[in-house]
Amino acid sequence: MVVLGIETSCDETAAALVEDGRRVRSNVVYSQVVRHAAFGGVVPEVAARCHVEQLPAMVDRALADAEADWSDIDAVAVTRGPGLATSLLVGVAGAKALSLSLDRPLLPINHLEAHLYSIFLKEDAPAPEEVCPLLILLITGGNTALVRFNGVGEYQVLGQTLDDAAGEALDKGAMLLGLGYPGGPAIERAAERGDPSFLRFPRGLEQPRGGPFAGAWQRELCFSFSGLKTALRYHLDRHPADREPERLPDVAASYQDAVFDALMQRVNLALDQTGLTTLGCVGGVAQNRTLRRRLDEALARRNARLLLADPAFCTDNAAMIAGLAGAPGRPADPADPLSLDIAPSLPIGA
Ligand code: KG4
Repeated sequence: MVVLGIETSCDETAAALVEDGRRVRSNVVYSQVVRHAAFGGVVPEVAARCHVEQLPAMVDRALADAEADWSDIDAVAVTRGPGLATSLLVGVAGAKALSLSLDRPLLPINHLEAHLYSIFLKEDAPAPEEVCPLLILLITGGNTALVRFNGVGEYQVLGQTLDDAAGEALDKGAMLLGLGYPGGPAIERAAERGDPSFLRFPRGLEQPRGGPFAGAWQRELCFSFSGLKTALRYHLDRHPADREPERLPDVAASYQDAVFDALMQRVNLALDQTGLTTLGCVGGVAQNRTLRRRLDEALARRNARLLLADPAFCTDNAAMIAGLAGAPGRPADPADPLSLDIAPSLPIGA
């Protein structure tokens, strides 16, 4: 089955063709970063207008790169949530039109579940049934979660961020450091020349407060990053010289280290608690080379298996949307192209 995937949940306009849930025949992404950089973050109205401009060309290119034509497409998959409402509307409207005009089923996809599936798109990746159950660390600009992946469509969120996401913490930190947007790659570049032990920033939820925790997740497996940017802000107010080029790499490395320590601590704890022996890591922050190395070392020490998403499938892309839609054994569950609605707050497993 050849699925055309469409992704417009935030600021990437993407289309892809994937065969049988595993073989990526094309994967094209228009990153809107330059359109939002001047504002220091994504402006929803700008993003939506940009999706309208770019989506037709992305779909055409996905077909051309795959050397396919319209008649080769068996289904149209699209992100229905979570994401920015106006951005989601563009992709869903485009997918509805294609589904109706091609007379092919319309498959609505949860963006976060597609990120979880992205580890299976790598050429040498095992099939899901070979490694399930496994633990997956999902780290994007909008979400941070630890998920027990029991099989395609069977997810259990063990913990997630209570406030900012890991990527958001890096983006906000980079802004305070004057490193620009997107912050994750900018902090990574600066941190390469810095000393992570220069400063000790707080690691969120370091001291469990005890008592009952409202929510279905385990408190010790949850994250909190919102205090980190505040700590950086106060530090820079008190030590303005740390913004200077000689010190900035050390501050960036210390800040990045605080984010990654929080992730590593929860990953180790979740592996201890669940007894799982395979970890997947997905989402934009999973591109970070320092984090990939730390995960590699930690998993090797435990004699456990690490499945990192290919960097091409870490940030938002449509291959993961088409891949999940066509995953072997997944019930297709097509939507009515006249009534499918967006779901901006869609949680994992809904
Ligand atoms: O997965 P993604 O495209 O976003 C959502 O679906 O939300 O990830 C974007 C996030 C941004 O916060 C960006 O700063 C971060 O991923 N990111 C990185 C790196 N590349 C992107 N963070 C750390 N190191 C990187 N190399």
